[in-house]
Parts: sequence; structure tokens; C-alpha cells
Amino acid sequence: MMMMMMMLCLVFLVIFIALFIKFLTADGDFTLLSKGKVKREEIQDKVVWITGASRGIGKYAPSDVMILPLDLTSGEESLSMAVEKAESFFGAAGVDYMIHNAAYERPKSTALDVTEETLKATLNVNVVGPISLTRMLVPYMLKRGRGHFVVMSSAAGKTPAPGQAVYSASKFAVNGYFHTLRSELCRKGIKVTVVCPGPVETPNPRTGSTERRVSSARCAELTIVAASHGIKEAWISYKPVLAVMYLVQYMPSVGYWLMDKIGGKRVEAAAQKGNAYSVNLLFDQKKES
Ligand SMILES: NC(=O)c1ccc[n+]([C@@H]2O[C@H](COP(=O)([O-])OP(=O)(O)OC[C@H]3O[C@@H](n4cnc5c(N)ncnc54)[C@H](OP(=O)(O)O)[C@@H]3O)[C@@H](O)[C@H]2O)c1
Repeated sequence: MMMMMMMLCLVFLVIFIALFIKFLTADGDFTLLSKGKVKREEIQDKVVWITGASRGIGKYAPSDVMILPLDLTSGEESLSMAVEKAESFFGAAGVDYMIHNAAYERPKSTALDVTEETLKATLNVNVVGPISLTRMLVPYMLKRGRGHFVVMSSAAGKTPAPGQAVYSASKFAVNGYFHTLRSELCRKGIKVTVVCPGPVETPNPRTGSTERRVSSARCAELTIVAASHGIKEAWISYKPVLAVMYLVQYMPSVGYWLMDKIGGKRVEAAAQKGNAYSVNLLFDQKKES
């Protein structure tokens, strides 16, 4: 009996160590990484509409493309025309996947310093535009009895993001809308995958900062893995952001305490194009006057 117990403990210990090592090297959450490869049959010959594909992550997601110029802030009539047009492509096959990827630029500022202009622009591009498009597209999908929304949210939609309060607010907002949409319509064939990446390597404003970032190509690949397997929410990031996401989700008191400790320092690090995700931010705590 004693021998059996010891063997069992050993097995648990080995599993724990293996999981820990996997966690240290992971660039996504366990459910996502456990799926392995893209389920090809789920995406083959499907019509995919992706916003914001001119650069960054979106550029890596589509292969055969037809460009449909669209400003998400251009108003109801223009969005409605875009939906009709997208539905009419490929012999009116209809949109199978709508990937809400576009986002307003992410200027860094404290929660109080954010300008009225940035506040409205961020919410219009990141929240109002995608929700309006969705409301217009869903009736077509419901007629076909199928449709899948893939929403590029962010780790900032799961945890506080000091220095990016409005961006964070916009991503929490889309998480809320799209998870609710799924709850309401999943029995009618509508699927939703919310993707929450941490830092991703994209050319432009953040160049010069020293954070460890997942490549755009890998982020796009994991997004397609998540969507093709019908995962409801997927996290894509290296540590420490991935670890903080787990903490805030499963041990919120600890997670929020941690974020409160680094908040002020993180704004400074971002302004100096330093590593805004470094664990060193936890130390070197000067008392603010
Ligand atoms: N990069 C990261 O580290 C990171 C981390 C977490 C989450 N994300 C999320 O992942 C998504 C892609 O990020 P990214 O960094 O790859 O994007 P990005 O390089 O900042 O590109 C943004 C895209 O959105 C488009 N866009 C901006 N305003 C628009 C508007 N009014 N109407 C239509 N399109 C508009 C841009 O088009 P133009 O070229 O025409 O301006 C561009 O194609 C975003 O939702 C972002 O929040 C990114």
C-alpha cells in the first residue's frame, strides 16, 4: 500500500514538473496549445472577412484576398453597404468568418491624461464599429444557420493595463459583447472566438521597446487554430503577461495586488520605450509623493 502511494506521488510529481516546464515555455494558454494544428476542414473554402489586414497581425491571417476598403467609423450606411458587398462576393456565398481585428492606435497615457479625442476614437474603432458590423451581418448568418466571429481582443481586455486604460476599457467591452452574443445565439449556429494576445511583434510605434513578443505570424496561426477548433476564448502570450492573466482570472486578489504594485512604474517604462512587462517593475518601488 505504502509503495502504491509513493508511486502515485511520483507520477503526480512528474506530471507537475512536466506541466510547469510546458508553462514556462508556452506562448498560449493550455487549452489552445493542446489543440496542436489548425483544423483544415473547418477553414477550407470558407469566406473570411477580416478588418485591419493592411499591417500587423491581420496581414498574416488572410491568404487569397479581395480588398474591401472600410473605415469602421464611417457610419451606419457605409457599414451596411460594406456588409452587403462582402456577402455578395464569391457568388454570394456569404461570410463564414468575420475577424474583428482592426484597432485604433494605442497611445500610452495615464488613465487621467487620456484626451477626449483618443477616448472617442478608440471606442468608435474598437467597440462601436465591430458591434455595428456584427449587428448588420448576423441576420445573413442566421438565414444560413452558421457564422463565426473571431474577435482580436487583448490581454488588456482581461487584466488592468496601466498606461492604456482606454484601450483596456475597449477590449473589456468587446469581450462582454461578444461572449454575450454567443450565449444568445450559439443554438442558432453562431460561434464566437475571443482571442486575447499579450505583446505581439508588429512593425511600427513600439519599435525600440525590449519586451519579449510573440511574432505576428505565430499570433495569426494560433488565432486560426483557436477559431478552427471553436475555442471560446484563447490567450496568446509569453510570460510574464500569460502568468498575470492566469492570476487575474483564477486568483484575482493576487493578480490585482500585483498590477497595483507595478502600475505607476509601468507607465514610466512605456513612456521611455523600456520593458513595460518586466518583472523588475515589481521591485525598485519609489514612494510617490
Ligand atoms: N500588436 C500587439 O501587441 C497586440 C496585442 C494585443 C492585441 N492586439 C490586437 O490585435 C489586433 C491587431 O493588432 P496589430 O498591432 O496587428 O494592429 P496594427 O498594426 O495597429 O494595425 C491596425 C489595423 O487596424 C486598421 N484600422 C485602424 N483604424 C481603422 C478604422 N477606423 N477603420 C478600419 N480599419 C482601421 C489599420 O488600418 P490602416 O492601415 O488603414 O490604418 C490597421 O490595418 C488589434 O485588435 C489589437 O488591439 C495587438
